[in-house]
Order: sequence, then structure tokens, then C-alpha cells
Amino acid sequence: MSHLEKASKLVDEENHYYARSARINYYDLVIDHAHGATLVDVDGNQYIDLLASASAINVGHTHEKVVKAITDQAQKLIHYTPAYFHHVPGIELSKKLTEIAPGNSPKMVSFGNSGSDANDAIIKFARAYTGRQYIVSYMGSYHGSTYGSQTLSGTSLNMTRKIGPMLPGVVHVPYPDLYRRYPGESEDDVAKRYFDDFKRPFESFLPADETACVLIEPIQGDGGIVKAPEIYMQLVYKFCHDNGILFAVDEINQGLGRTGKMWSIQQYKDIEPDLMSVGKSLASGMPLSAVIGKKDIMQSLAAPAHLFTTSGNPICSAASLATLNVIEDEHLVEKSAKDGEYAKHRFLEMQERHPLIGDVRMWGLNGGIELVKDRQTKEPANDEATKVIYYAFAHGVVIITLAGNILRFQPPLVIDRQQLDQALQVLDDAFTAVESGNVEIPKNAGKIGW
Ligand SMILES: Cc1ncc(COP(=O)(O)O)c(C=O)c1O
Repeated sequence: MSHLEKASKLVDEENHYYARSARINYYDLVIDHAHGATLVDVDGNQYIDLLASASAINVGHTHEKVVKAITDQAQKLIHYTPAYFHHVPGIELSKKLTEIAPGNSPKMVSFGNSGSDANDAIIKFARAYTGRQYIVSYMGSYHGSTYGSQTLSGTSLNMTRKIGPMLPGVVHVPYPDLYRRYPGESEDDVAKRYFDDFKRPFESFLPADETACVLIEPIQGDGGIVKAPEIYMQLVYKFCHDNGILFAVDEINQGLGRTGKMWSIQQYKDIEPDLMSVGKSLASGMPLSAVIGKKDIMQSLAAPAHLFTTSGNPICSAASLATLNVIEDEHLVEKSAKDGEYAKHRFLEMQERHPLIGDVRMWGLNGGIELVKDRQTKEPANDEATKVIYYAFAHGVVIITLAGNILRFQPPLVIDRQQLDQALQVLDDAFTAVESGNVEIPKNAGKIGW
């Protein structure tokens, strides 16, 4: 692509130095600066961002209030380790997070540097509190890249290949898939079938009374924006409750307004998680994570069981406080719900015209648009999905795929209606162009996506 002159040279150069374990290849986007939902690359090309840095920039890029909080705090104190002493932004943020966490039980917080370590914390606190070793997580889930969180995950063979043995005591169960249900199955049937699958390990090799916790993404993010049915979630929640198993949710990708609720678990009725991991947009992409849990559970470990020299950094904490204020002040949860509904209807209308679109899943500004070769067989249309994102990129829209054939629609929640319309029109045109065979993947593109 000729409009990527500087970018392509920079990427070629970086390829000599940057380990391939840390980047999933899509296209040569070298970002120079960004604001709101707009990205500008090193060649001066402008893009509408439909990825929000993997849902880490919910309040938009370089939000004035977040920038001010960061710069003000940087003038005062860049860091002092929370392992020994205290700082004001950290104190304020821990209180705030316990107040906004779902449910009424008293809560406590422990900070980290990445979503991954927050999920490690879930393993630690759950084991410590229950005195039990087993953890149940889900196939299709993504929980991070530390050994613990990578063991919990179930979305790519590259997360276990060559690096085993993984953490012992983690058992994966299948995540409900409503799209590929059996003929004639209702949503309730699917929920019950998957709950039977959930129980099977407990009936064959996994003693419930030795199980510490179940960790679930209420909506799987990297798994393809897939939401477990209400009945399924309630059955799992009750099973946990009945068996003294902690119920933990990963809100790293789907929390903080992304789904049109503050927390994605609030998509379900009356569920209060025992433990919850948060990261990504928590500090608008600054490295900060937290595990928030019921007070007695969070009291079950003593230092240094879970501390990091740079966790709860004051600049990150200040950025987080500002981010949480912006979410409230600009009513971004409500905006996400409303604009998500709008985008969903636009995609559903496109689905009527484009056979490529097999399924439209959308909760808030948070969508998985699944592309298939054939609506009957539901065979994944991976090449076509790649062509759609390449077309979009060439026409000023940044979007990537999940699982090869699912478009990941997660713009910053501040995206305005005009940008949203423009981006949706580009995608509509992309479907038309790909369906008519008019888009080629560049020969030097390499392996695209996961
Ligand atoms: C649901 C979920 N959990 C955990 C993580 C890991 O977060 P991090 O990459 O900040 O370690 C991610 C990242 O994509 C995620 O989507």
C-alpha cells in the first residue's frame, strides 16, 4: 500500500528486533498520535478506530481530563512502591473501586500491572480462601499471558505450545455457543446442554469440594464476543454457591461500560461475583489492573503473596480516577448501550443484503460480526474476513478479526455518530467489494490474525 511509505519501512526495521511472540500480525499501522476515536499514522493517514486498543481506551484517546490527570500527577510523584508506603491517588482509587464493584458486600482491592496478573490474583485468593486447589475456566477464553492466566485461557494453541507444563489444577469446560446450536434447539436447550457439559467433570474426575473457583468472562471477548445465556449463568452461579466454590468474573475486556452496562456481569440478574479482575480501560491503557473481591476473601493472603514494585502506580491511579469520572460525567455506559443498539441494527440490516454475514452479536458498542462462507454450514470465512479488514484499513477504518473470521467491533465509547456512520458505510462497502471478488490480500501480508 503506497500510502504507508514510512510505516512499512519502520515495520520492516522493527521486524529485526521485535520478538514475534508479542504481536499478532494484521497490517502495517504505525500510530503517531490519536484523539477520541481518531488515529493518525506516521504517514499522516487518518483512521476511525474500531478497536480502542483492544478495549483499553473506552473513554477515547488522549481524553483531556485523563491527560491532565497524568501530567499533573507526573509533576508531583511518578512512583513510590506500594509495597511499603502509601500515596493519595492509590488510596482514593481503592475506595472508589470497592464502591463501584457490583453487589453490596464489602469489598477490597489489590492492584497489579496487567490484566494477566489480576487473573493470577484470582487463582491465588481463591485457593487461599477456600483451601482448595482446582480452578475451572473456559475453552475460548483469553485471560492473559502470565503462566497462571495463560493456563486459564483456552483460545490459541500458541499459548501452551512449547511452554508446558502449565499451572496444575486448571480444568477447562466448553463455553455456550448459541450460533452453532443443534437444529431445533432453543436458547434454553443450549443453556442446559452446556450446563450438563459443565457438570460432567464434577461427576467424573473433579471433586467439587476440592474446587476453589470458576472463572468466567460473562461475554467472551477474544472468543468472538459470545455471551453465555442467562439460564446458563444462573445455573453455574447456583452450582458454585451450593458447593462452596467461588464465582469469579474477568471484566478486563468487557467491563467499564463496554457492553452498555458498567460491568458485563450486570447483563445478568442479581449476580454478585466473589472476585473480579479489571484492567485495560481501567486507566485508559496506562498499566494498571486490579482484583476486586469480597472483603473476607481478600483478607486471606498476607504480603508479599501478591505485590509488585510498580503496581498501583500514582500516575496510573490518577489516570484511572479521571477515567472513571469521564465514564460517569459523559454517561458513557448509557451511550454505549444506545449506540450499540444503533450499530446492531445497521449490521442486521447489512446482514439482509450480505450473505457473508452469518451472525451479528452486539451488546453495547461491542460486537462480533461472524463471517461465513455459507449460512447453512456456517463454515468460517477467514480469507474473506481478512479481505474485509484490509479493505477497511485502506479506506480509513481500523478493525481486526477474532478467531480468524469474526470482525471485532469495539470502538472507543466516545465515537460520534458521524464517525460511526462513516465506519459502518466503509464496512458495508467492504462486504460488497469482497463478495464481488474485488479485494486481494497483499502478497507480503504474511499470516494474518490469531
Ligand atoms: C478478558 C481478558 N482478560 C485478560 C486479559 C489480559 O490482559 P493484559 O493483556 O493486560 O495482561 C485480556 C487481554 O486481552 C482479556 O481480554
